[in-house]
Amino acid sequence: MTNLLPLTDTFGRVHNNLRISVTDRCNLRCTYCMPEDVTFLPKDDLLTFEEIAALVRVAVPLGVDKVRLTGGEPLLRRGLPALVAMLRDIPGLLDIGLTTNGILLAQQADALASAGLTRVNVSLDTLDPGRFRELTRRDGVEQVVAGLLAAKRAGFDRIKVNAVAMRGFIEHDLAPLAHFCRAHGFELRLIEYMPIGAEAWERGKVVPAHELLELLDAQVAPLSPAADYDPAAPAMDFVYADTGAKLGIIASVSRPFCDRCNRLRVTADGKLRNCLFALDELDVKPLLRPTVRADELAAALRSNVRAKWAGHQFNTADFVKPARTMHSIGG
Ligand code: 5AD
Ligand code: SF4
Repeated sequence: MTNLLPLTDTFGRVHNNLRISVTDRCNLRCTYCMPEDVTFLPKDDLLTFEEIAALVRVAVPLGVDKVRLTGGEPLLRRGLPALVAMLRDIPGLLDIGLTTNGILLAQQADALASAGLTRVNVSLDTLDPGRFRELTRRDGVEQVVAGLLAAKRAGFDRIKVNAVAMRGFIEHDLAPLAHFCRAHGFELRLIEYMPIGAEAWERGKVVPAHELLELLDAQVAPLSPAADYDPAAPAMDFVYADTGAKLGIIASVSRPFCDRCNRLRVTADGKLRNCLFALDELDVKPLLRPTVRADELAAALRSNVRAKWAGHQFNTADFVKPARTMHSIGG
């Protein structure tokens, strides 16, 4: 390897967290994420498992110790546990997470656990079948709940339930979701609605963190900042006063955490993105196919991280929405 200094940008942010999209396909059509009609990537454009593992083998000596598999819906990628097993064998990689919509999780939870997956986050915005259909344009809330319960049975701990907080929805869904998570020991994480989907984003649709806390306080139970509240983490961690259970709020809009960002992304077709909202990307597929060019790959990772901007601009007039929508970037 060229040299083993960490992946640091010009703002001094060290990058140890690589989010890997394994497919742009999805079995839901969440309105805040993607349009109903989409053209997906041709299969040949997707990085193979061998190519993904090769990329991670180059990234780990540069300081990447956490990866998260995302989509689209990652469980639509056939044989995903085999990729997890390949990644588990890479020395120095400490954490292999998955962010899934949970529809196919019940079938795959055991295989993923045996393969060495360490963390599971499941996206679920509502427990109400009607609102689930309105938000995702599909049915499936029962499957997601079954997936969550199967993940728990498979032995995953600290399972997180991610809910996007949109005005007009979360006011109804917050209490049922919070009670459900408290009953089953899942950690609810509320995500402020960001301008990355297919539909027109309006600030008025964002329910900010402080309002979510007020709703929780009134409808569920009071919360206080967690003892290990980490101002550097994207999620603001709270604990319920009565049970001590955790809840997180990801306040990307009202309290951006760009200045502490440690994330780097690769799309399913092998484009490095140094920010969810990046307007440029760096194609590394030619450095993986037909043969792996490890030194050039390391240099590409370094230059992509070095080129990272200070952060997204959604609170300024300069904000430009990226051409890709969330499903094709990977949350
Ligand atoms: N704003 C906030 N979160 C979003 N997600 C998808 N689109 C948006 C958006 N516009 C979330 C999904 C999932 C994660 C991958 O990203 O709900 O939890
Ligand atoms: Fe699919 Fe996730 Fe996008 Fe919903 S948010 S359409 S589950 S990729």
